[in-house]
Amino acid sequence: MKRRDHLWPATTVPTPRGLQIGGVPLRDLADEFGTPAFILDEEDFRIRCRTWRTAFTDHDVFYAAKSFLCHQVARWIKEEGLGLDVCSAAELRIAQRAEVPGESLIFHGNNKSAAELEEAVAYGVSLIVIDSYDEIARLSAVAQRQGVRQQVLIRVTPGVEAHTHSSITTGTDDQKFGFSLAVGSAHRAIAQVLQTPGLELVGLHSHLGSQILRPDVFETAAERLVDLMADTARTHGALLHRLDLGGGLGIAYLPGETPLNVGDLAPLVVARVRKACEQAGLSMPRLAVEPGRAISGPTTVTLYTVGTIKRQPGLRTWVSVDGGLSDNMRPSLYDATYTASVAGRAVGGGSVESYAICGRHCEAGDVLVPSVILPADLAVGDLLAIPASGAYHRSMANNYNGQPRPPVVSVRNGTARTLVRGETLEDVLRLDVES
Ligand code: LLP
Repeated sequence: MKRRDHLWPATTVPTPRGLQIGGVPLRDLADEFGTPAFILDEEDFRIRCRTWRTAFTDHDVFYAAKSFLCHQVARWIKEEGLGLDVCSAAELRIAQRAEVPGESLIFHGNNKSAAELEEAVAYGVSLIVIDSYDEIARLSAVAQRQGVRQQVLIRVTPGVEAHTHSSITTGTDDQKFGFSLAVGSAHRAIAQVLQTPGLELVGLHSHLGSQILRPDVFETAAERLVDLMADTARTHGALLHRLDLGGGLGIAYLPGETPLNVGDLAPLVVARVRKACEQAGLSMPRLAVEPGRAISGPTTVTLYTVGTIKRQPGLRTWVSVDGGLSDNMRPSLYDATYTASVAGRAVGGGSVESYAICGRHCEAGDVLVPSVILPADLAVGDLLAIPASGAYHRSMANNYNGQPRPPVVSVRNGTARTLVRGETLEDVLRLDVES
């Protein structure tokens, strides 16, 4: 059996009963777990972790929890030798419950609360990334109260355009993340942290944005940060030995897209940092990267059932599925593009037609795929699968129109297992106060 193209989870194969992932037919998964459902290929997830681990041997790979995290995923991350990038109390709690050690954690956020910082420091989170002047004082107070010297990075905005959607661009000036290099805030933050009790500045961080498709932006950012490290050594005599280049590597969402892969990116970035350090007279820092989407994104498909098919003369044929905006905000937020396939039966050979796939929500913009070619005999009750649904789908899912959030089910070696339970109507209604 031959796997489908790289858009689909690694173990996806077509069979006479439709698509199968992890040795389990999607038809059977729909029968057992209902739809919509997120189906996650555990083997693919683990392979991706290993690929990153190998590409950045001798450096740190922190998986970005915000793309998708649950207890089992945290365990896989630990088993595969990666660390975890967390950015909230909830993500930190999941990591703790899965016994991911503090030394494998990095903590992000532009407004971490004192309580979150207390918890992170108490758990021994190895690196906390400082993103405001207020946080310098806040974290210093926490560290001193707990009698520790907390290792920190400073998040720098290096002024590098990532060439991605503006809502997920974070390396340019005048936005909420980071201390600007251009206006001197990064230099001031460094000076301040170096004089602050309870904090030990060990390095710098930048995250340029997400769904990035070009390697040169990472190289440019790395060079600018090495310059800043050199400046820090000259000005303050402080040698910083960690350099975190964030996440952001893009993936394919449509057939024919061939994004950069980490095996190609890593040597370029490592070489560029090494060269910049040699020129600046610095020793090579320990690097860190924080992939989210590039690990979780391609591992998962969303499985939907077709509920209605509306044909009108001269207009697109609209196919409504039983989810939409509540399980995938990305088309509305970032004009993200997807494809879809019939998943519950064999297709091919017959005549085809163009369809628009939309969700069931009360929003005209609730369109998952504006145009896709599918069999002309597509019918109500057919299963549709949308690939590349593993990153920022379940983690950004919501209850719009009272829609219960779908389960996440992992598949491996012919076995399915619930990772995140699907919500029931009772779950959705439980916070509504009746008296
Ligand atoms: N590190 C930091 C500090 C981040 O803020 C992020 C993502 C990552 C790493 C991981 O980035 P990735 O490798 O997954 O691109 N909701 C948007 C993406 C927002 C990304 C937020 N930060 C989307 O659906 O495209």
